[in-house]
Amino acid sequence: MKFAFKTLDDIDYVGKRILLRVDMNCSVDPETKQITDISRIEAIQETLKELSRSKVVLMAHQGSPGSDDFISLEQHTKVLKNLGFNASFVDDIFGEKAKKAISQLKDGEILVLQNVRYFEGELKKAPPQEVAQEQIVQELYPLFDFFVNDAFGAAHRSQASIVGFTTVLPSVAGRLVEKEISTLTAVTATDQHPWTLVLGGSKVEDKVATLDKLLATNRVDNAILGGLVGTLFLIANGKVSETYSKPIKGYESAIETARNLLSKYPDKIILPEDAAVECEDERLNCTFNEMGNLPFLDIGPRTIDKYVKIIKESAVVFANGPMGYFEKDTFAEGTSKVLSAIAECKGITVVGGGHMGAMAKKMSLDDKITHISTGGGATINFLIGKKLDLVVALEAAAKRMDE
Ligand code: 3PG
Ligand code: MG
Repeated sequence: MKFAFKTLDDIDYVGKRILLRVDMNCSVDPETKQITDISRIEAIQETLKELSRSKVVLMAHQGSPGSDDFISLEQHTKVLKNLGFNASFVDDIFGEKAKKAISQLKDGEILVLQNVRYFEGELKKAPPQEVAQEQIVQELYPLFDFFVNDAFGAAHRSQASIVGFTTVLPSVAGRLVEKEISTLTAVTATDQHPWTLVLGGSKVEDKVATLDKLLATNRVDNAILGGLVGTLFLIANGKVSETYSKPIKGYESAIETARNLLSKYPDKIILPEDAAVECEDERLNCTFNEMGNLPFLDIGPRTIDKYVKIIKESAVVFANGPMGYFEKDTFAEGTSKVLSAIAECKGITVVGGGHMGAMAKKMSLDDKITHISTGGGATINFLIGKKLDLVVALEAAAKRMDE
């Protein structure tokens, strides 16, 4: 596939100083804080291998302030070492410690900087020229020859480490970004129906906004909802009490959109019909009326049966975000049965996002699914035809490089 941005094929990177932004944001056990799945780290290996004769500085995020998975990148560095890379970690992003370690780097070595979201300026979302003014960009860019962006999972985030460097350094895409974009382009070229979206997990504000756009395109026939996104819609239509809004970050702003979507697309939005709650440390399947105020942690059996049937009969399925609290085995049932149905579906199937992708691999379903994308939000944005911020920025950088 021919891209309007440049790739590793267009630069001479041997012996050069490369700043490489990746997305190795992994699933993390909320209690032990240990990484539970390394797929996103494995996914950047091709780029790292290709840059094995350069000095590579890795920049990445993990979680975000306030989330359970907001941890240091020290563990990620160990994983890279176990995969055979000559990687070391510095507990700094752009201070003296980081600069010193960067200056001592030799060809074939990889230096992992600390979680970029430990720096507040990284959280700002603005156009490339604006985020380029952030300290992280201004301090780091003079130390490099090239910026390589392989962070497909964060391609929809217009933040300093994703788009800022593209305005000040010759910038190209890494191999994972290339692979994701060409595969997703091929997968979405189809016009087949029924087209089913399976949407779960958290980040409800993002997801409700994309659902709004996606339903407006007429591409989606069924939007099957679960996880916190599903709970939000159940509150919106009065099936579940507002007390369940408590764990939902972004509830206030998303609930109105959810109500509007329900009245606009009553036949397309498909909601859970029953629940699984946690009662004395056990899974209890029940109706919404029987839930009391017990934690609502998965979709119930009737819902699972209904979702499985719709998925199996679909021509295209795209899934992002788990159906429940899959970190606990007893509440992983909804997500795992939905994934099995996706694997059995004869149509085109795409599973996106760190959590769902990891579980599909754990269940050895990866070769029965058309494409497991490392992107969640990024992939959904791609599907609604929104040009990814990372791509826009790299295309502008390519033009500058040709001038
Ligand atoms: C993801 O997990 O979807 C990506 O790593 C982006 O993370 P974010 O949604 O926290 O920006
Ligand atoms: Mg995520």
